[in-house]
Parts: sequence; structure tokens; C-alpha cells
Amino acid sequence: MEDINYSKNYLLGGAIACSQADGGFQEGGKEISTQDLRYLDPSWTPEQIEDKHQNNPFSQEEFDQALKDQGTKYYPLRRGIDFYHHYKEDIKMLAEVGLQIFRTSICWSRIFPNGDDQEPNEEGIKYYRDMFTECKKYGIKVFATMIHYDIPVNLVIKYGGWKNRKIISFFEKYVTVLYKRLGDLVDYWLPFNEINAAKFSPWDGVCLIPGTEKNMDQEIFQCLHHQFLCSARAVQLGRELVPGKLIGGMIARFTTYPATSKPEDNLQAIQDDQYSNWFYLDVLARGYYPEYMKRYFDKINVHIHFEPGDKELLKDGTVGFVSFSYYFSQVSTNDDNWEQTAGNLIMTKKNPYLKESEWGWQIDPIGLRFTLNQIYDRYHLPIIVAENGIGAHDELTSDHKIHDDYRIAYLSAHIDQLDEAVKDGVNLIAYTMWGIIDIVSCGPLTMDKRYGVIYVDLDNGGKGTGKRYKKDSLYWYKNKIKEHINN
Ligand code: BG6
Repeated sequence: MEDINYSKNYLLGGAIACSQADGGFQEGGKEISTQDLRYLDPSWTPEQIEDKHQNNPFSQEEFDQALKDQGTKYYPLRRGIDFYHHYKEDIKMLAEVGLQIFRTSICWSRIFPNGDDQEPNEEGIKYYRDMFTECKKYGIKVFATMIHYDIPVNLVIKYGGWKNRKIISFFEKYVTVLYKRLGDLVDYWLPFNEINAAKFSPWDGVCLIPGTEKNMDQEIFQCLHHQFLCSARAVQLGRELVPGKLIGGMIARFTTYPATSKPEDNLQAIQDDQYSNWFYLDVLARGYYPEYMKRYFDKINVHIHFEPGDKELLKDGTVGFVSFSYYFSQVSTNDDNWEQTAGNLIMTKKNPYLKESEWGWQIDPIGLRFTLNQIYDRYHLPIIVAENGIGAHDELTSDHKIHDDYRIAYLSAHIDQLDEAVKDGVNLIAYTMWGIIDIVSCGPLTMDKRYGVIYVDLDNGGKGTGKRYKKDSLYWYKNKIKEHINN
């Protein structure tokens, strides 16, 4: 057998996204993005927040109001944690932790404020050059997402967003600028965050407002087809403009076990996996629509419009690495009465062997090793774990400490499983824990669902000093990284 020697020295890092962190939503030439329209009333109770998040995360009414609003309501993603003005001190703190790689996203509406502008916004390019240069100053590698859900809202208003094939040429222009003007500073490129989010969260994934389409599934999958083509173009353009750099694909991984050994549950697990996970990575990494989708599309009455050349483009533009977010695992069963609990983007079925986070997400470190093995086995491409972490209520003590032993336990158990997976033969490039610094949560839009090793003193209404404090987990992660590098 060939001597496999994958290094245990994958990179340990952290991740955020521009829409949840940056703020400065109309500064430096930036225009409004689709995520800037999402609304939270800070006076809502936790139950009301959860109800809004689960049952009506975005509506036509909210869209109309947000566009008209003169700043009387609160839109948390417009403010984030003001990383836009604090990035120097924040990156300095990340360097103190010893971060080897930092993942963030680029706001399309900072580079092309309306999406269809003739020329890019130089101030936006300068912001990213400065911010990435700051990372490089400390030897931190840059992992850049091109679209973490948000696109310029003008593209939705004027063209219908992802529904319109024209978006591919706007995207090509955006990507060309990114490669040409930022390519020297970025180590790994990711065209789309969690490309499988659309079915569960249409506004996030493909900028469609729930309840507004006659055949929502048809529109979602046609939008996704356009995103697949964009991803393939990003790979092709990358070959030409940033040769040697890896351009990847990502899903939110809903790791799935059969609930019992019943054949029905095993079949259900395979199908849940195919429709929610594999389809997306199969297109991105294998370069074609898998056979199993035909029956599914027939069932949900979806007919994808392919134009001449689409098949060839998908085949040619396959990704160079695979990545995923991993927060929980779930079980699959055809028993409709099986107890449910929440998960990232979806409701999941409960596994009696697992504990849950405060938000009901089932904690399963071994599932991470399982997932890494599964994905490596399927694609044989290098892997980046692009997100993993635990959202929790943290308490800031009067002497500005945060004793987050629960986070240390979570991260420690998951990172141990990375090492196991590498010993299993998985080619792992990096692990970027989610929300390394507290940011606005993406689902509920609150600050009090915190993931970071750095605490940011802001409440759900954006009130507070905005000061950054080191949590106990920061010291733990710092030691972990040191130990990891020395081993
Ligand atoms: C992922 C997203 O799905 O989950 C992130 O890519 C998000 O943007 C993360 O923040 C955690 O979800 P939440 O809702 O707890 O912020």
C-alpha cells in the first residue's frame, strides 16, 4: 500500500462573516445588502425571537419596510460588532491567540455596491487589502468567502437576484476583481458559504422571500443551478488569475445516522443525506447532477433549465477542496412521531445518546470524525472544516472574566476528533472555529448567542461599550494551538 502521510499539522484558526461582524453598512461606498434588511426588535422575549426565527425569518412586509425605513428600527446586521472600524485591534487579539488561519467573507456590496456597477468601489477594495494585510503581518493565512449569503440588494430589486441568469455575468465581474486585486493576499477561496442552505432558508441561500413564489422548489433549484455555474466559473477564472490557489465548495453538513437498524430508517438516512447534503457537493466536486436527483425532482415538480454549455462548465469547474460547517448530528427515520429538536438551519430528530446545546443542537464530537471520513472517502479532496463551535449565553463577571468551561469542553472534544480523522487518513487542511470573536448570530440575529473566545460587550439591541474581553476559552485555545504546532 502507498505510504500515506497526511500531516497532523493542519491549520487551526477561526471564522466570521462580514454581514454578522462588519457593520459600517453604508460607509466606504458600500450599499445595502440583502442581509442588512433583516429585522430584530430588541424588546422581544427569547420566545418571541425564537418564534420569529423558526416560523417567519423573513417576509415581504419586512423587505418593504426595511427599504423604506429611515433608521427608526433596529437591523442588527447593519451594525454587527463594528469589525469594520475595529479590525486592527481584533486581528491583533487573534494573533495573540496564535491563529494560523482566519476565515471571513467579502461583502459583494462593498466591492460593487449595486452589483451591476461599471467600476468597482476602490474604498471597498482598499478595506479588504488593508484587513488582509493586517492578517499577513502576523503570519495568519486568509480564507475568504466570496458570498456568505449577502448580495447587493439592487440585484434582487432590479433583476430578481439568483433567479436571473444575468447574475452569472455580474458575479464573474466581481470574482475577477477579487482575484486581480486581492488574490495575492488570499490563501484559500470559497465562492459560496453553505450552498445547501437555500432549501431551508431561502432568503439566506438564494434571496427568495418565503411565500412569494408559486412553485418555491422550482425557483430555489433554478437559483441554485445559477450558483453552481457561478462556482464553476470562479474555479475556471481562478485557474487563470490566481494559479495554484485552491478554490473550494462548502455545505452545512447535516450528519445523519439511521435512528434504528430498521431497513426503512437506513433508507431514509441515505435519502436525507442525498437530498440535503450530497447533491450539492456532488455537483460542485464531481461536476454533474447525480442520478438520484431525477426521481426527487420529479416528485417535487422541479425542472432545471440547462442552457447549452452548462454541463461542460460544471464538469470543468470542479472545486479543489471541500469544506463544511459542522455543529450537530441528527437521526433519520420514517417515524413521523419521533421527537424533534432544533439544529442549524433545520429541525432535527433526536438522538437519545446525545446532549444538546442551550439552543437544542445535538453535540456529537465523534460525528465530526465520522463526517470527515465520509466526505474524504466520497471525494478524495482536501478538506477544510470551515465552521464548528457552540452558541451559548456567556456571563461577563464584574472583573471582566468569562468562565466558559462548556465551550472549552466542546472545542476540545471536537479538535481531538480532528486528530483521529487525520490518523484515519483524512487529508485535512484547516479547522476554522465559528465566531472566534462574538458576532451577531445569523438565525436569531441576537448577540447573546455567543460562539467566540473573545467576548464583545454588546447586547441584543447593540447597546454596550463594544469592548473586547478575553474568555477562559481564549487561553485554552492559545495553548491548544501552541501544542498543536509543536507536535
Ligand atoms: C452557519 C452560518 O449556518 O451557522 C453562520 O454559516 C451562522 O453564518 C452559523 O452564524 C451559526 O448559526 P447561528 O444562527 O447560531 O448564528
